[in-house]
Amino acid sequence: MTPAGRIQAAIELLAALDAEPRRPADAIANDYFRARRFIGSGDRRAVSELAWGAVRQRIRLDWHLARIGAQPTPRLVLAAQLLLVEGWPPQKIAGHFTGDRFAPAPLEPGEVELVRRLAGTPLLHAEMPEGVRLNLPDWALPGLRARFGEQLAAEAAAMEAAAPLDLRANLLRTTRESARLALAGEGIPAEPMPFSPWGLRVTDRRPISATAAFKEGLVEVQDEGSQLIALVTDAQPGMRVADYCAGAAGKTLALAATMGNRGHIVACDVSATRLEGAGRRLRRAGVDNVERHRLVPGDKWRKRRGRSFDRVLVDAPCTGSGTWRRNPDARLRTTARDLAELSAKQSVILDDASDLVRSGGRLIYATCSLLPEEDEMQIERFLGRHPDFVVRPVLALWAELCPGVPAPGEGPYLALSPAGHGTDGFFAAVLERRP
Ligand SMILES: C[S@@+](CC[C@H](N)C(=O)[O-])C[C@H]1O[C@@H](n2cnc3c(N)ncnc32)[C@H](O)[C@@H]1O
Repeated sequence: MTPAGRIQAAIELLAALDAEPRRPADAIANDYFRARRFIGSGDRRAVSELAWGAVRQRIRLDWHLARIGAQPTPRLVLAAQLLLVEGWPPQKIAGHFTGDRFAPAPLEPGEVELVRRLAGTPLLHAEMPEGVRLNLPDWALPGLRARFGEQLAAEAAAMEAAAPLDLRANLLRTTRESARLALAGEGIPAEPMPFSPWGLRVTDRRPISATAAFKEGLVEVQDEGSQLIALVTDAQPGMRVADYCAGAAGKTLALAATMGNRGHIVACDVSATRLEGAGRRLRRAGVDNVERHRLVPGDKWRKRRGRSFDRVLVDAPCTGSGTWRRNPDARLRTTARDLAELSAKQSVILDDASDLVRSGGRLIYATCSLLPEEDEMQIERFLGRHPDFVVRPVLALWAELCPGVPAPGEGPYLALSPAGHGTDGFFAAVLERRP
């Protein structure tokens, strides 16, 4: 592909994303490339980088375009990205928008004028409102400001940086050190993580799904924050554990490892597709103490199993604001309405899941959100409705769970963030049913 052909493909990809604003960008990109198998892997990477660059900066690029009275068409968004982020001069843009075979159509006179007006403008403009300057959507700003106060700018910057590749050594098959050596033997250097006792961080990102270490189930891809949620769940050998929102079993796998495959885990979810995906991962990891259960409306299962679990993990559906460094499109897709709907859903799920916790057992509530509305405020409301539960301060449990490792913060809850801990943003509260 020529450089101009790559630009045209990136414009088409941006148009596909704009046409389905509620759908995850990676799913749209997969469809786009599947329908164009003639695009080779190198070109595919280059096209994705161009389009993803614009997605990462979209809030700012749209602001710049609105300031000069332009509609954010995919052509102008990409031109703005090349001008303001990549530092291209207008002549270079015109030199690629030529209308030649595979190249974007020539700039129209109106577009030429807009490109001229944008040229030379700094990406971070003095007149930008705070949210745009920080690259954060308006609806999330109050919550993030409440969470981070003076650290907001540092956290916003960390949310823009690319995330490392985090792996969890599967202790059912290996030790962390043996997994590290196996990866090194395949040319993938990885370092032990600061907090997770099972974690390995690959700073130089590269695909690992083709490695023998991955295929043999020695390692799983899992952000350190997600590993710590499993850690504070404290699922021990022989316990009865429910992973109530198990999805494709990311945390179930880690729980099975802390249990040494002994005891019983029920991995629940409303999504049959996700539970099906979980099956494959469980087999690869050598996990055999997990039963999968699809939750349906009016489910009798919950009643039958009421108050019988030692641990119930609720890894709730949430805005995912803690994962924006990995999913740059999510900050564009999610709205204030989603936040309100998700928050209501989280309350219902928490109430339902709490029925399963035995007397003296624990309910662990987790999100990958940085917004208090989905985190501590959710817990405060739950405790108001359920006086039979008390908070077990997570960081007081830490010394027992991870001896010798400094706790990642203080306070009753686990609250991890990209700048503070180098992890995705995760929240966890441990609640115990009074005996
Ligand atoms: C954050 S994801 C879970 C990720 C998973 N625990 C992991 O570590 O890979 C939230 C999950 O909640 C599920 N979910 C949504 N509504 C639910 C409900 N009412 N009850 C149980 N699970 C639900 C979704 O299908 C989704 O898989």
